Amino acid sequence: MIAAKDGPGMAERDGKTPVGEGARDILASLPVLAYGGDYNPEQWPRTVWREDMELMRRAGVNLVSVGVFSWSRLEPREGEYDFAWLDEVLDLLAANGIGAALATPTASPPPWFSLAHPDALPVRDDGTRLTHGSRDTYCVSAPPYREACVRVADALAERYAGHPALRLWHVHNEYGTWCHCGHTEAAFRRWLAERHGGLAALNEAWTTAHWGQIYSAWDQVNAPRATQYLANPAQLLDFRRFTSEEMRAAFREQKAVLRRRTPSVPVTTNFVLGDWVPVDHARWASDVDIVAIDHYPSGDGRAAEEQTAMSADLARSWAGGGKWLLIEQAANLVHVDGRALAKAPGRMRRHSLSHIARGSAGAMFFQWRAPRGGSERWHAAMLPHAGPDTRAFEEVVEFGAALPDLAETDGSRVDAEVAILADVEASWALSQPGMPSSDLSYEAAIAQAHRVAGRAGHTVDFAAPGADLSRYRLVLVPSLYLVSDAAAAGLASYVESGGHVLISCFSGIADEHTRIRTGGHPGAFRDLLGIRVTELRPLPEGERVVLDDGRVGTLWTEEVRLAGAEATGRYPSGEPAITRKPTGRGVARYLSTCLDDEGYAAEFAVAAAESGAAPVLPGLPEDVEVVRRTSAGAAWLFVLNHAGTERRISGVRGRDLLSGKAVDGELALPGGECAVVRLE
Ligand code: GLA
Repeated sequence: MIAAKDGPGMAERDGKTPVGEGARDILASLPVLAYGGDYNPEQWPRTVWREDMELMRRAGVNLVSVGVFSWSRLEPREGEYDFAWLDEVLDLLAANGIGAALATPTASPPPWFSLAHPDALPVRDDGTRLTHGSRDTYCVSAPPYREACVRVADALAERYAGHPALRLWHVHNEYGTWCHCGHTEAAFRRWLAERHGGLAALNEAWTTAHWGQIYSAWDQVNAPRATQYLANPAQLLDFRRFTSEEMRAAFREQKAVLRRRTPSVPVTTNFVLGDWVPVDHARWASDVDIVAIDHYPSGDGRAAEEQTAMSADLARSWAGGGKWLLIEQAANLVHVDGRALAKAPGRMRRHSLSHIARGSAGAMFFQWRAPRGGSERWHAAMLPHAGPDTRAFEEVVEFGAALPDLAETDGSRVDAEVAILADVEASWALSQPGMPSSDLSYEAAIAQAHRVAGRAGHTVDFAAPGADLSRYRLVLVPSLYLVSDAAAAGLASYVESGGHVLISCFSGIADEHTRIRTGGHPGAFRDLLGIRVTELRPLPEGERVVLDDGRVGTLWTEEVRLAGAEATGRYPSGEPAITRKPTGRGVARYLSTCLDDEGYAAEFAVAAAESGAAPVLPGLPEDVEVVRRTSAGAAWLFVLNHAGTERRISGVRGRDLLSGKAVDGELALPGGECAVVRLE
């Protein structure tokens, strides 16, 4: 995860143009609402290509990602390109009015490349060098790999500059491969020298006096290898930061050659969400012309819808509130715990509309046609193995036909009064080993805040620590374990000038080098909250604590001493558990335990009411998602009924763009149905 750093908030602070605004012109080449998926014609004979075109037209497809893993087909031997098949594919697409998000194929170097450049293969932390036979097998710091990436990107751009199908550059695929080889190590040391200035500062930042790790020469510093016992947390954190920056540099190199040859074609790469990914997408957001995400919910039931809404809010926040693109999702399956569960009828449409409601410039899928072979032969596709005469494809066609009706929402914005302060670095630091409780999960804390606010009918932005928060009435700060002094000061001045914050346990504990702030927790927010935590008391497995008002705490408790705050909830011992302190013109609240959803919702309701943050619609029925989009002269309400039965939503007047019907005060939505109402 999380939140725009060089994007909206940060961009404004730095006086740069927010991504969504500055990028507007360059996005003119994209369809208003993109619809399509990864298209892999190289896996099929030409006869199938004709059928693809016919079926894509039938489905209303207007953009496909082409060539994502095609390097070995495009360059079968070093320097020998075979563009003929791609010429034909792009010509076919253009002739059928379908645009191409043309990929640079660098996520999957060909076997000949691995054999010619074994030093460009990634090395695991245990020293194992991986080899070809899968994908994503590269060392992003290896000079031969970086040179080859730029070369193949340049060759593609030279060949296809001006091609009528070319609408978007899709660089690489899901940057994310870790490497611990010598090239990586050398680059890591250079990055560290720049970040810390000298070895003495590095030793200090990494607390190397602990366990006798003091470095006396740069060549002793490694890309963290497998260690006998716990590794140095500051080193691990810096290695993630470095890996993110190294991949970002590789992306920028490709972007530069593409931009040079095709100045009016936007360039992006698909962000993949997940805590395994060593990429700080918030920091990358200002480098892409349009934020593009892949999203595959991993939960079944309502969890999938709530994950969908959260990922979409994240993407919009990274994009500074401007356009972004859902570039991959699964059409008719949800992959949960090793099972591919079929999406119930209408669910694909609801997931797609949830993204579009929250600002996606379309709904795209992985992938167009289900493959016959290969590792992902059982992955979902718009066109399943069984062919077009299927429920899944019929739904794809139906939704493709409905999308143009939503074109008028293009350019409108989503406004949020509530933000979640979130940071992937805090997440990385909190998930390290050696913490007071391995049960405490940053991802879970963020997801709970989003879920609870969403169920209460609020739209939520994500904001990066240090961003300008002045547009929000209420800022939720779930377990922000690591925070810099500057970001903490920013939050304090937000409250001083009238903002409301709800900070949860284990926030503000560590500085940016993961060093614990001493003198009482939560070090960075002690004064703001008017408390001093003198002892952390994680709960044993399965234990809960019931507060004096009946609310239930899980996983974690603390010994909280009041230092200016009042207790608004107490542990059975009578000690403070939940606190509130007015500061300046605002209010700062603290939760010293992980409340269950019900308890968190109660605190959220009080905090939201006091801050003046209002839900999109009051009294929303359960399992209904609403998002309001506004532009200068109009407003729309996206309403998604995730329940299996009808829901009646009052206070809605206008015309539903999907059904064409007028809505006169009450919208009755059958189970699983959606409406996009242009409000009167
Ligand atoms: C990612 C990748 C795709 C595919 C899907 C499968 O999003 O980009 O190539 O592997 O996952 O879920």
